[in-house]
Amino acid sequence: MTDTRDGVSTVTVTVNGAEVHAEPGELLIDACERTGTYIPRFCYHPRMNPVGMCRMCLVEVDTGRGAALQPSCMLPVSDGMIVETETDLTKKAQDGVLEFLLVNHPLDCPVCDKGGECPLQDQTVAYGPGESRFIEEKRHYEKPLAISDTVYLDRERCILCDRCTRFADEVAGDPLIHFMDRGNNTQVNTFPGEPFSSYFSGNTVQICPVGALTATPYRFKARPWDLEETISTAWTDSVGSRIAVQSSRNQVLRVLGIDADPVNWGWLSDKERFAFEALNSEARFHAPMHRTAGGDLVPAGWAAALTLVTDALAGIDPERVGVLGGARMTNEAQYVWAKLMKGVIGTDNVDAQLDDGLAPELVLGLPRATIDDACRPGGTIILCGPDPKEELGALYLRLRHAVIEDGATLIELTPHRGGLSGLAAHSLHPRPGEVGDLAAALVAAVSGDAVAAAGVDAPAIAAAAAAISGPVTVVLGRASLAESPSAVLDAAHALCGLADVAFLSALRRGNVHGALDAGLSPGLLPGRTTLEAGAARFAEAWPAVPSTVGKHAAAILTAAAAGEIDVLVMLGADPVNDCPDRSLAERGLDGAGLVIAVDILPNDSTMRFADVVLAAAAPTETSGTFTNLEGRISVCEQKVTPAGTSRPDWMIAAEIARRLGTDLGLDSPGAIRAEFAAVSPVHAGLDEQTLAAGRIDGVLIRGNGDIVVPPPSADTGPANDAYSLRLVASRRMYDDGVALRHSPVGVGLARSIEVRLNPADFDKLGVEAGSVVKIESGQGHLLAPVAADAGVPAGTAAIPFSVPGWSANVLVDGSALVTDVRVERP
Ligand code: SF4
Ligand code: SF4
Ligand code: FES
Repeated sequence: MTDTRDGVSTVTVTVNGAEVHAEPGELLIDACERTGTYIPRFCYHPRMNPVGMCRMCLVEVDTGRGAALQPSCMLPVSDGMIVETETDLTKKAQDGVLEFLLVNHPLDCPVCDKGGECPLQDQTVAYGPGESRFIEEKRHYEKPLAISDTVYLDRERCILCDRCTRFADEVAGDPLIHFMDRGNNTQVNTFPGEPFSSYFSGNTVQICPVGALTATPYRFKARPWDLEETISTAWTDSVGSRIAVQSSRNQVLRVLGIDADPVNWGWLSDKERFAFEALNSEARFHAPMHRTAGGDLVPAGWAAALTLVTDALAGIDPERVGVLGGARMTNEAQYVWAKLMKGVIGTDNVDAQLDDGLAPELVLGLPRATIDDACRPGGTIILCGPDPKEELGALYLRLRHAVIEDGATLIELTPHRGGLSGLAAHSLHPRPGEVGDLAAALVAAVSGDAVAAAGVDAPAIAAAAAAISGPVTVVLGRASLAESPSAVLDAAHALCGLADVAFLSALRRGNVHGALDAGLSPGLLPGRTTLEAGAARFAEAWPAVPSTVGKHAAAILTAAAAGEIDVLVMLGADPVNDCPDRSLAERGLDGAGLVIAVDILPNDSTMRFADVVLAAAAPTETSGTFTNLEGRISVCEQKVTPAGTSRPDWMIAAEIARRLGTDLGLDSPGAIRAEFAAVSPVHAGLDEQTLAAGRIDGVLIRGNGDIVVPPPSADTGPANDAYSLRLVASRRMYDDGVALRHSPVGVGLARSIEVRLNPADFDKLGVEAGSVVKIESGQGHLLAPVAADAGVPAGTAAIPFSVPGWSANVLVDGSALVTDVRVERP
């Protein structure tokens, strides 16, 4: 060690005659790049372990025993190292590597999607031989191979860099793509009959340094030099992955992951990556619609549609208005809608969650962790929520890395095994509805007082408690929509008893955390404040403030079903498919007076029940910001113009307010942000300069405001009778949501329905694996094939919440702590 700067020891390396400082253990290729010397590479990727496959990064290194060519991606710096990256020997090595890579490489550049952004092209020009000495016939393969629904493989373009295979195996944990055959015939491929059906397959296309892997949505659509790009935030889940949105001729053609260090590291789930296709769909609402007397939704002009809306809202009793949804909108649009509904109309019956989330006071009131906090080396992650692999793809990849590479300990308190179970130090599966009891038992066991709870025996709880070390992050959410959120509330209260604990919300839906921050929830005002605490402040800033706490989603639907709601507004909401209780959603929408949908794409609720549809601009068509599950605010920049005459959500709310006689004074996303920051102490520092400085990593908004966690529930689970199973209904990555329904590649991705039971339950129930069974609850019944799964505890029936043509919410009683079902022959 030769230097100490800022208390950190460094080593000194001489690169091309200049001394540079590097961290001990830093790879030479990184140290050189960081200090201004770029070394060409193919196989090296900073987010994966180096393998030294391609040898493109050879440089001359002298560590005291004479200079020799060494791969800089495999070599940690050492003190006194002398490095030459531009000597004749280095250049000859680079030239030779490229000549060998090109021996069998096709002359495909004019028809290759990688052309124009191809490291092989670029590095051949910069470091390669000027001309080819190869006149023999090149290797040929059948091309392209569709290795999945989204990815094509052109094997002869592959340079065997091992990036895709390493990603699939090490990062995603889906080792479905690998090298096969030997020597000159070595090729990358999938196992016979096994497609590359990974939720993360698109990342391999992004990191492939050549055009061997291409993605269906982008293939032959554009050339890189035709594309324009802007930075945005993925909108299909709440991780807030940073993305580059690329378009040509006013159409979004590609989404790439951006390496935001605190968030997604450049990785995306395929849903985040390919969901933009739905926004280009012909099914888009290009103009407002209204329902005719004959029951058809037909296009209407904006003036006519807004008149229908404002006629219904003018002078209305605020108690007879309900608003559902809003989690798909930008923070700015959420603020304007909150101001319109709470500050102008005066209703507090506003809920961005559709009874499928958690109490906002729980999400906002707990001590909050970041993704980096959760992934700290040596820390403990307690997963008390949904399977991140199914619901929060980029978070799943970060947690996976933390456990495998950084020694984090994972403990699961989940209803059955999931995507991370193979990595968990302990997987405890409580009976549905009893996770609070299990969490309490786990905390008690930390003090040496282990007792059995929730169907888990005492030694298993004691062993899990003994494994807890370092700072603890609880990933908290709804593992099953067939179970009341009160169970999660109780678990959170119990886990607060652990030392050095913080919580990372696992609410799933897009910008749901922004919606809670904007006050799109009963009892809240923008800025993590309650009606009570914020009343005086908002009385100055807004025309009005609701005086009483309003109804949450289920109560709004219940009131609507009873004929007590005259205007029901759905802000990008589909209660029929998303509410845990479908019967309640249908009765509510049916019983409401005027149903107004503000949406981008049709869904079942809109098409069946909406009287007026106000066409909204898509996330790529409007500017604003997004708040992720950590409370991190990042920008979404407009890339293309809104489809047809659709308008940004904030503009629609501002226009409705103006027509109702109130000028909100909000005429741009910047003006909205300025007002939001002025009324919200927790957002006070969020000015344009701060936002610009956080253009890649976002800006973390800390603080709980006035919010306190509600007390534990008094709910206890019913005893399970000998004939019933407790239902677990969990969301899957590929479901029946609009993002997939209207996407050409997404529409076929959802797996078909099945109910999974523990093998021990089959004899008791008298059913056979593979047969179709009837699943019946007090609410309704469904037919589905049954499969044996030892990862599902005995006494439990696990089903996906929603796949095309099948939704578990016909079974769920939203008012019950748990839903019991019978599984029997039909
Ligand atoms: Fe050309 Fe690169 Fe495509 Fe090879 S991978 S054909 S070098 S553009
Ligand atoms: Fe590398 Fe691409 Fe070949 Fe995979 S397909 S080994 S990423 S060149
Ligand atoms: Fe170093 Fe490939 S980049 S061996």
